[in-house]
Amino acid sequence: MRTRITELLGIKHPIILAGMSWISEPKLVAAVSNAGGLGILAIAPLSPEEARRQIRETRSFTDNPFAINAMLINRNAKEIVRVALEERVPVINYSLGRPWFIDEVHAYGGKVIGSIAMVKHAIKAEELGCDALVVTGFEAAAHGADPTSMVLIPLVDESVKIPLIAAGGFFDGRGLAAALVLGAEAISMGTRFIVTKESVVHDKTKQKIIESSELDTIYSNVYDGLPGRVLCSPGSEAILKTGPMEKAERYRRIEQSVYHGDNEHGFIYTGQSQGGIKDIPPVAELIDNIVAEAEKILGNAPRRYRI
Ligand SMILES: Cc1cc2nc3c(=O)[nH]c(=O)nc-3n(C[C@H](O)[C@H](O)[C@H](O)COP(=O)(O)O)c2cc1C
Repeated sequence: MRTRITELLGIKHPIILAGMSWISEPKLVAAVSNAGGLGILAIAPLSPEEARRQIRETRSFTDNPFAINAMLINRNAKEIVRVALEERVPVINYSLGRPWFIDEVHAYGGKVIGSIAMVKHAIKAEELGCDALVVTGFEAAAHGADPTSMVLIPLVDESVKIPLIAAGGFFDGRGLAAALVLGAEAISMGTRFIVTKESVVHDKTKQKIIESSELDTIYSNVYDGLPGRVLCSPGSEAILKTGPMEKAERYRRIEQSVYHGDNEHGFIYTGQSQGGIKDIPPVAELIDNIVAEAEKILGNAPRRYRI
């Protein structure tokens, strides 16, 4: 399944591991890149030293292309992006801010992918020189805006020429097929990759996600100050009542869920796509199955209607 995204990034399959703080770490990133997708290493919560260490570790696990994700709204964004540029990471993905590094990335042959959740931000990112966009719908874990993937992908497709990666709500081959039909040329998945064998997330939290339906998320700005989606749990419901917290406390609560499986006190970002997650497959098997299912669906599509 070749698209402009697979060609731009030099990957085999149009499937991307979303940059997820705490979760998209070197082993998972390399597993996705080694399976023919693109892993995005999440460096937003890291110190510059730790970001450099993880970039080098990822390189030691894979010879294939990978990306980093930086949230430009964060105070240390300039320093960690600088590290990624010094390390000449092949693909730089940014969200929540204005990129100042596009020419520098292009100068070493890298690519820049902007993450957007509104048409006007897509147009701006293309004007600034981005090579591709992650288009994030409301269904997504963490920070999406109001428009759903169903509406946002065709509207962005109509407004820009660069290729699109659909994010928010994707978990299987039907989603990949639909994304391609709507105007995207790859999908990026977060929640689905949380529940894989290689993911560092604690088994209890993986199990909790499997048991949760598409209805079991909370969308609120109480968790980190921006409207965002989290898994519904005793921990996330309690925070909804007690209100916003400091960054150190927020990180502590997230680590409780991610690393210790404690959803009584901690919380984790997840998307509506959790409703479709029923198993804990190895990354390579998941990617192969999604591509095979999408190809089958697209091949059979003409049999579903009569002209
Ligand atoms: C635990 C977690 C952490 C995330 N951290 C980041 C981040 O650091 N930067 C970012 O741009 N997006 C972050 N996201 C959002 C994802 O990149 C992606 O947009 C989202 O997971 C897509 O929706 P899905 O989960 O339905 O696939 C995070 C998502 C999760 C689940």
